[in-house]
Amino acid sequence: MVAVIQRSCLKGPIQVLILVFLLTGKSFASWLWLGVASVGTVSSPQEAEEMVCSVVPGLVTAQKTVCIKKPQTIVSVSEGARLGITECQKQFQRERWNCSTTDDDSVFGKILEQGNRETAFIYSVTTAGVVYAVTRACSAGNLTDCTCDREHGETHEEGWNWRGCSDNIHYAIGFSKTFVDAPDKAFKGDLLRSLMNLHNNEVGRKAIEEQMDIQCRCHGVSGSCNVKSCWKTMPHFPNVGDYLKTRYESSVELHPRAKKRLRRKDRKNRKVPINTTEMVYMDQSPNYCMEDTLNGVPGTSGRECNRTSLLADSCDLLCCGRGYNTQVVRYVERCGCKFIWCCYVKCNTCETMIDRYTCK
Ligand SMILES: *[C@@H]1O[C@H](CO)[C@@H](O)[C@H](O)[C@H]1NC(C)=O
Ligand SMILES: *[C@@H]1O[C@H](CO)[C@@H](O)[C@H](O)[C@H]1NC(C)=O
Ligand SMILES: *[C@@H]1O[C@H](CO)[C@@H](O)[C@H](O)[C@H]1NC(C)=O
Ligand SMILES: *[C@@H]1O[C@H](CO)[C@@H](O)[C@H](O)[C@H]1NC(C)=O
Repeated sequence: MVAVIQRSCLKGPIQVLILVFLLTGKSFASWLWLGVASVGTVSSPQEAEEMVCSVVPGLVTAQKTVCIKKPQTIVSVSEGARLGITECQKQFQRERWNCSTTDDDSVFGKILEQGNRETAFIYSVTTAGVVYAVTRACSAGNLTDCTCDREHGETHEEGWNWRGCSDNIHYAIGFSKTFVDAPDKAFKGDLLRSLMNLHNNEVGRKAIEEQMDIQCRCHGVSGSCNVKSCWKTMPHFPNVGDYLKTRYESSVELHPRAKKRLRRKDRKNRKVPINTTEMVYMDQSPNYCMEDTLNGVPGTSGRECNRTSLLADSCDLLCCGRGYNTQVVRYVERCGCKFIWCCYVKCNTCETMIDRYTCK
């Protein structure tokens, strides 16, 4: 199936998303497909419009409505999903579960059918990605519904002004509540799972809100900084990823029979309300050691490990005690290059042998 989404009605070639996929059955967070779509072009707006929103699979009604009304935001959604997926893979590249995506069923495979800590991370980081990408598009003037914030007229008490283009995250936050939250707001199926997803989406939004920063520029006589104007900026997305990874590491297990409101499983702290800086999960994670196709776990066999590391990428931990294979890899490179007068460069070739370890 091929879907095409219009980017803008400006001059020049129209940037579109071309989605190619085979999707069967129900899957969670189907909109994440937009993150693995490739961007291409079509020749006319009609061509784009004919093929738009109805063919993106698995979108719920509220998402289709957004897609039809604001096709240009869908490009940002796609960028946001991609940003989230890439950051997830970076954060988990050395761990047993490495956030790999699959070609079948849904983007992350069967992992999204569980409500475990990894699922929680995926929801948070992709929601953060959407807020980030939509805000950036607002600031760049690419969306018709939002711009950056130039309204901070007042002088700050320390003698500087809000000036310039502040990243305005309010539009994107509202947008993500409409779009990303939509499937779980329908509350079809498992209620606790929906509450879990919605909470983790909120954790993703919070990750950006909490790390908003201020940047300033000096004016005034010869850099004296008499006059300073400042604007708000979003954190760099890798910082959002780091923030969420620490939240993942201390995520909270939910009471399985909680209704309406999330509660902690931990008896001692049951009275302590769960706040939006805490990621939540309901199912235990598998250990991700052995291949389990039924549950979409690829296992760690064949993964490269580090013999001297004491972290998750150590051969002990990553290979789950199964041991590892050692391979000697030969690298040949040019080295010891000298400039000879005049005019050429003479090099030697050097050989290095590097051991490479992979899990059995
Ligand atoms: C994750 O690990 C699998 C092997 O289990 C590998 O094929 C895949 O490329 C890795 N994915 C990423 C994103 O690193
Ligand atoms: C804004 O639109 C231009 C032209 O389509 C595109 O190249 C650019 O990447 C967009 N920027 C953002 C932040 O969306
Ligand atoms: C959220 O909960 C955590 C753990 O109970 C606590 O450390 C933190 O201070 C709380 N944050 C807010 C903003 O209430
Ligand atoms: C293996 O881990 C050690 C200790 O953490 C680190 O210094 C080294 O760079 C790692 N090697 C590779 C190939 O990543």
